[in-house]
Parts: sequence; structure tokens; C-alpha cells
Amino acid sequence: MDNVRSVSQGSPLPRLEQQMLWQYVLQVPRAWLIAHDTDPLAPAAAAEFLKLQARRLAGTPMAYILGQREFMGHEFQVSPAVLIPRPETELLVETGLGYLKGRVAPRVLDLGTGSGAIAISVALGCPEATVVATDFSPDALAVAGANAQRLDARVEFLCGSWYHALSDHKGFDLIVSNPPYIAAGDSHLQEGDVRFEPASALTDGEDGLAALRSIIQGASQWLKPQGALYMEHGWDQAQAVRHLLEQAGFTRLVSLPDLAGIDRVTGGIYN
Ligand SMILES: C[S@@+](CC[C@H](N)C(=O)[O-])C[C@H]1O[C@@H](n2cnc3c(N)ncnc32)[C@H](O)[C@@H]1O
Repeated sequence: MDNVRSVSQGSPLPRLEQQMLWQYVLQVPRAWLIAHDTDPLAPAAAAEFLKLQARRLAGTPMAYILGQREFMGHEFQVSPAVLIPRPETELLVETGLGYLKGRVAPRVLDLGTGSGAIAISVALGCPEATVVATDFSPDALAVAGANAQRLDARVEFLCGSWYHALSDHKGFDLIVSNPPYIAAGDSHLQEGDVRFEPASALTDGEDGLAALRSIIQGASQWLKPQGALYMEHGWDQAQAVRHLLEQAGFTRLVSLPDLAGIDRVTGGIYN
């Protein structure tokens, strides 16, 4: 009879991915796999592993196969309707939470919430905040709503394009966004996991700055005086984003580097 070790032998997947698939198929912790890799295996489990392995070899991201991805220490459910939350986006959440520290009952807006990763992490990190999150994709909002419920986060989700989703929600202390910022035709859109993610989460279909421009230009109507706007952007967009913020009347501009030392979050205060 097959066992984990025999079925895995000759698997072209990296060992870590094999282990993740086995954990998912058998619903066991990693330590169990190591101790029990020669236990007899039900044929259905072996078949399920091989099916998932084939999907992975065809390029499907691990997060979509497993249906989840960790972000800010929380387990988020993901589907092909949403961008897979990236570790670099934690910088935006940490920047936002830093800004909220010491503010009484702050109001926060997350534009383009996808899985809800940013909005939910802010709500959990700052329970006294009122958090509103928008997306123009109803399918993404369904995933975000389910994540908020499962993680017990208080977030109001609204559907619509950027600020059009809002009605009487004026007066935010903080707006955060990780919008689509890859230019149309960028070769990265054809590579790796990205090929499986929703195009509308990745590219604005224009120069990569169109969504950032809309968010910056609309922000002043929705922020309180001295409110802040912070956005994630591409590795080469910090200067352009600072320029757009300056033109829109923002001051105290900052660009913050990711772990690789590349500026990936830029923001400022509206006077
Ligand atoms: C890069 S993803 C970010 C998802 C999530 N905030 C995260 O950081 O993992 C951008 C999100 O913006 C949404 N989006 C794109 N264009 C939009 C628009 N015009 N109005 C509202 N949301 C939009 C997409 O549906 C997608 O969920």
C-alpha cells in the first residue's frame, strides 16, 4: 500500500510545497507528516495529492490550491476572485496602524480591498477604528465579507469604483489603498502566480498610475483636515506618486522602503 513517502518520491515539487499539499489533503500538522510518512495511505488521499500536484505543476498558485494565505498573522481565505495578499503589503498596514496610534475613534477607508487583507488587519490591529472598505468586484467583496466574519473583524464593505462606492461616509482620518499599479502590457503580467490572479486587481489597463491618480485626486473630499493617505505602488513609482500627492495639496510626504530597501509605500497629510 502507498504511503506519503512513496507517493512523494520523484515529485518534481519543492519539498515545502509537497508538505503543504499533504497537510491540506490529510488535514494534519507538519510534525505528523514527519512521524507518519510510512503509514499506509488511503488510495483516495494519494489520488487527491497527485491531482493537486498536477494543478501546481500547471502553475496554479499554492494559495488558490489551499484556499488560504497568511497576512499580518491572520489566515485569509482566498479564491481566484481576489489578489493573493503579499508580504510587502504588511508595510502599508503597519504604516496605517502607526498613524492611527493615539487617535480617538479614528475612521479608516481601504480602497480596492480584495480579500479584505488590509481593512481587516487594520480593524483587528485598531479595534476602536471604524473601518470602511470598497471594491468594484462583488466577487471580491464576498470573499472579504466572509474573511471579516471568520476573523471577527468589524468592517463595512461597499461596492463601487473607488470613491463612488461611498455616500455619506465623509471625514476619514486615514485612507489606505493597494490599487492595481502595473502598466498594461507589462511582461510581469504573464509570469508566475500573477497569470492566475484577476487582471483588474493587477493592472489599471493604462500607464500603471491611473488608479493611484484617481485615488489621490479624490482623497481631499473624503479626508478630515490633517487626514492621511498612504498607498502601495510599484518599485519605480515613488517619485511619480509623491508628485501627484504634491499637486493634490498633500504635505509631509513620505516614501517607505520594503525589506529590499525599495520605496513601496508613499503617502502624505492633507491640509
Ligand atoms: C492590488 S489588488 C489589492 C487587494 C488587497 N487590498 C490586497 O492588498 O491584497 C487591487 C484591488 O482593487 C480593486 N479595484 C480595481 N479597480 C478598482 C476600481 N476602479 N474601484 C474599486 N476597486 C478597484 C480590484 O478588484 C482589487 O481587489
